[in-house]
Amino acid sequence: MSNVIKKIGIVGTGVIGASWSALFLAYGFEVIAVDPADGAEAALREYVAKAWTEMQELGLVAAGASQLRLTFSTSLEDIADVDFVQENGPERLDFKQDLYRQLDAVLASDVLIATSSSGLTMTEIQKGCVLHPERCLVGHPFNPPHLIPLVELVAGKQTSSESVDRAQTFYSSLGKRTIRLNKEVPGHVANRLQGVLIREIMSLVNEGVVSVADADTACSWGPGLRWGVMGPVLLNHLGGGAGGIEHFYKQFAGPLVTWWTPLGGVEFTPQMQEKMIQGLYAEVADRSFEELAAERDRLLVTLLKARLAVNTEKN
Ligand SMILES: NC(=O)c1ccc[n+]([C@@H]2O[C@H](COP(=O)([O-])OP(=O)(O)OC[C@H]3O[C@@H](n4cnc5c(N)ncnc54)[C@H](O)[C@@H]3O)[C@@H](O)[C@H]2O)c1
Repeated sequence: MSNVIKKIGIVGTGVIGASWSALFLAYGFEVIAVDPADGAEAALREYVAKAWTEMQELGLVAAGASQLRLTFSTSLEDIADVDFVQENGPERLDFKQDLYRQLDAVLASDVLIATSSSGLTMTEIQKGCVLHPERCLVGHPFNPPHLIPLVELVAGKQTSSESVDRAQTFYSSLGKRTIRLNKEVPGHVANRLQGVLIREIMSLVNEGVVSVADADTACSWGPGLRWGVMGPVLLNHLGGGAGGIEHFYKQFAGPLVTWWTPLGGVEFTPQMQEKMIQGLYAEVADRSFEELAAERDRLLVTLLKARLAVNTEKN
C-alpha cells in the first residue's frame, strides 16, 4: 500500500471544493477536479487564481507549485488514478451514499476518500460504499479551507483507524490543525459550537435584547478576537487570574449557570428567519457580497500571518 500522495481528486468544485483545490495546488500537488455543473470549470479557475494571491502572501505557495497542474472533468471515471479524494458534493445523504458507491468502484482500494460534509456522519455515508468502506472518513474543513487551518477528522463504524492516521498525517503536512473526534455526532464539534452561538443570537434578537448588527459586533470585537488566539477554556483559565481556572469556577460557577437559562427559546420559523435576514441586511448596508468576502479574506490573511509568526503550537 502506497502512502505517497501526488495526485488529488476533488469531487464537487463549489464553495469548498474550489478552495481545497487552491490549497492542494499551492502545495505542489496535481489536482483533477470533477463537477457536472455548467460553468463549473471557469468558476473554479477564477477562484483558484484569486486564492493564489492570498496564499502567496502567507508564504503558502510551494516552490514549483502551479495552477497549470489543475485539470477539470465532468466525469468521475477521470479520477481513477488519484492518490487521495476530497469530496465536496451537495450535503444530502442519499446523494453522498450514491456518490461513494461510484467512487468506491472507480478508485484503487487504498485511496482515502475524505468528505468535507458539515454534519453528516460517515457511518451513514459509507453505507453506499460496499467494497472498501474502511478508507472513507470525514475530513471537515472550515470555509475557506485554503486559509482556515482546522480540519475535523471523524471515523465511521467501518472506517479503519489506519485511514484516519494516514489522513491526519497528510492534512498536517499541509499545515492543517487537525482534531480527532472519538465519537460521531451530527455537526461534528465546531459546527455544534457555532450552532449554540447562533441559537443564542437568535434568542437575543427575538427577545429584542439586541440587533443583529450589535450581536455580530459583540462577537467579532469581543470574545471572537480572543477565540482567534486561544480556546474558551484556556481563556477561562486566564480569566481566573493567578488562581487560574479553579478560581474562575469558584467565582463564576453560579452566574454561569444563570446565563445558561434559556431566554424563552426560539423556533427557527420562516418569521424568525425573516427577522434575522432583515437585521443582517441592515448590518450589511451598501456593501456587496464580494466586498464582504474580500474584507473577510484580507483580515484572515493578516490574522493568520500574525499567528504563524508567533509559535502557537499548543493553543
Ligand atoms: N459552505 C460551507 O461553508 C461549508 C463548510 C465546510 C464544509 N462544507 C461541506 O462541503 C460540501 C460542499 O458544500 P459547498 O458549500 O461547497 O456546496 P456547493 O453547492 O457550493 O458545491 C457543491 C458542488 O457539487 C457539485 N456536484 C453536484 N453533483 C455532483 C456530482 N455528481 N459530482 C461532482 N460534483 C457534483 C455541484 O455542481 C456544486 O458545484 C458539503 O458537504 C458541505 O456540507 C461546506
